[in-house]
Amino acid sequence: MPRKIIIDTDPGQDDAVAILLALASPDAVEVLGITAVAGNVPLHLTQKNARIVCELAGHVHVPVFAGCDAPIRRKLVTAEHVHGKTGLDGPVMADPTMPLQDMHGVDFIVETLRREPAGTVTLCPLGPLTNIAVAFQKAPDIVGRVQEIVLMGGAYFEVGNITPAAEFNIYVDPEAADIVFKSGAPIVVMPLDVTHKALTSKARVDVFRAMGTEVGRMVAAWTDFFERFDVAKYGSAGAPLHDPCVIAYLIAPDLFTGRLVNLEIETQSELTLGMTVADWWGVTSRPKNAMFMGGINADGFFALLTERIARL
Ligand code: RIB
Ligand code: CA
Repeated sequence: MPRKIIIDTDPGQDDAVAILLALASPDAVEVLGITAVAGNVPLHLTQKNARIVCELAGHVHVPVFAGCDAPIRRKLVTAEHVHGKTGLDGPVMADPTMPLQDMHGVDFIVETLRREPAGTVTLCPLGPLTNIAVAFQKAPDIVGRVQEIVLMGGAYFEVGNITPAAEFNIYVDPEAADIVFKSGAPIVVMPLDVTHKALTSKARVDVFRAMGTEVGRMVAAWTDFFERFDVAKYGSAGAPLHDPCVIAYLIAPDLFTGRLVNLEIETQSELTLGMTVADWWGVTSRPKNAMFMGGINADGFFALLTERIARL
């Protein structure tokens, strides 16, 4: 029985690959809808990019919604330096023709969780947590109806990628992250600790290129563009495919290992704003609110990703 999911996203080349992986896996996940959030690039681009990706996958009937255009309390910080000015730089992409839904993304999250049987909908945030937090604030009754939140965000042993202490998704809206991590909903976290082990390489990207499909060509062009930031900064072999780890977990959880810990968000200090503080050694009595992933079978991850992407 496929898991019903809502993908909340700020495409973003890696978000795009995650959406493709989900749409290529109807046996494992049923995408009820995609809600865009401001993050890597502003909302008018993330909602457009989400539709571009759905059309590329040939799934023009997936409802795409625009959510919040700014963090709850702070000014939006974007990441064009990583993703380019369109957010999907690399290949030239045609504008989408599929419509954007009129309903606000937050209202879609609330209405879907109220409509579907309790405990049957998984939320998959791939960007800042603004939409999720606003939905929980607007409709506290939905929190107990969430099956699980599987999100990309945070970092502990790997430390930050946007500041010395913070990972981008959490840094953009730390107040939203604080609301989500204190909500009581079960959370699985894919932090930089694991996504930095899911690195592309020339050989891995060539597999996408060799598929001979439009989707394979797009994924190769996106990762070629996206990797330049991480290769220059970390000297790594290739681009970390952050967001696809969330969907891969839903399809093949055994690819990952982690630890149930308390995770809290820094929302006060300017120095460490957005830091995800994991009580890794259990030195506090704070509730263990997050399954914090740290290990990944990278070869298995890429084998799954290429097998599924080749289906589109
Ligand atoms: O820090 C990595 C995260 O920030 C990824 O989700 C990437 O898409 C950006 O949103
Ligand atoms: Ca993202």
